[in-house]
Amino acid sequence: MSAPNKSYDPVEVEALKPEEIERMRDEALAAFAAAGDLDALQEAKVAHTGGTSPLALANREIGALPPHAKAEAGKRVGQARGAVNKAFAARQTELEAERDARVLVEEAVDVTLPHDRVPAGARHPLTTMMERVADVFVSMGYEVAEGPEVEAEWFNFDALNFGPDHPARQMQDTFFVEGPTGDHGESGVVLRTHTSPVQARAMLDREPPVYIVCPGRVYRTDELDATHTPVFHQIELLAIDEGLTMADLKGTLDHMVQSLFGSDMKTRLRPNYFPFTEPSAEMDMLCYVCKGESVGNPDRPCRTCSSEGWIELGGCGMVNPRVLVACGVDPQKYSGFAFGFGIERMLMFRHNVEDMRDMVEGDVRFTRPFGMEI
Ligand code: PHE
Repeated sequence: MSAPNKSYDPVEVEALKPEEIERMRDEALAAFAAAGDLDALQEAKVAHTGGTSPLALANREIGALPPHAKAEAGKRVGQARGAVNKAFAARQTELEAERDARVLVEEAVDVTLPHDRVPAGARHPLTTMMERVADVFVSMGYEVAEGPEVEAEWFNFDALNFGPDHPARQMQDTFFVEGPTGDHGESGVVLRTHTSPVQARAMLDREPPVYIVCPGRVYRTDELDATHTPVFHQIELLAIDEGLTMADLKGTLDHMVQSLFGSDMKTRLRPNYFPFTEPSAEMDMLCYVCKGESVGNPDRPCRTCSSEGWIELGGCGMVNPRVLVACGVDPQKYSGFAFGFGIERMLMFRHNVEDMRDMVEGDVRFTRPFGMEI
């Protein structure tokens, strides 16, 4: 059994010399003071108070000291460790306060900043106008139907009773994507010149009765100017049922203009010709501004209808039985009516747009006054 080493002098244990302990303490305090954020402080804490830190190692040396030396060395190391822990806690409080203050500033929301720097988009007035018209018919039970814009010549013309030599087929009206091919003059492919081919598609697709409304884009080889555009929009209506007459057509047209322009509106029909309707008519609606009162009344001129009292809307008629047959509908049992008109024109007279080009150029200064309908 070995006796304690009475001659052991704690002063000679390098790590427990007072100036060493002070140095360790001061280094720890300096490291805490230098820590710029809580992460750095945490690192400094591990380095200066952790299990392998100089102070912890010094503390471990105490156990090996003779009893009389233990107390003093213990006190010295204990005081140093106490000072280090206190300094750590103080610096931690300080850095936490700094972080909280910074977060408050960085995450603050400035409620006075302008909120509309990126303006919300809205749909084009042509779209909203088309939907408004379509909605009138949807509320009457009609179904919205669509067809392709690149259309078989057969649907665009043949099925609709346009003869092979009809002038509308000529290049000066129609964009041909593919000419008629083969020796037998098979159907070519065109950009549809009207929404009427959807009538033919609808009749072939469904069993009568058929009630459809078809809004869509159509193409004609017109130059873009104030009153023409090669790409424009039409809305087409088709009703096929037993016993439909021209009176149903007239009532439907009246209902449409009343829904869109007011309850005192009406339409009138003027004879016209379309290959796919018989009889056919041009439809006019009462001028919704002067209600006809400008006619023969120089004191009350009307800009909207040029004092004519009526505004031309589009074409209509009873579906030609030849079209019914071409589309598989029995003309002995069913009859139908159809009409179609241009949306650009309606937008022009309804909102006094003088130049059609404004509608296609995409300048928001044109669309903004129509409001933000989404
Ligand atoms: N499709 C015709 C046009 O583009 C309009 C129309 C539609 C006429 C339906 C009669 C019936 O001019």
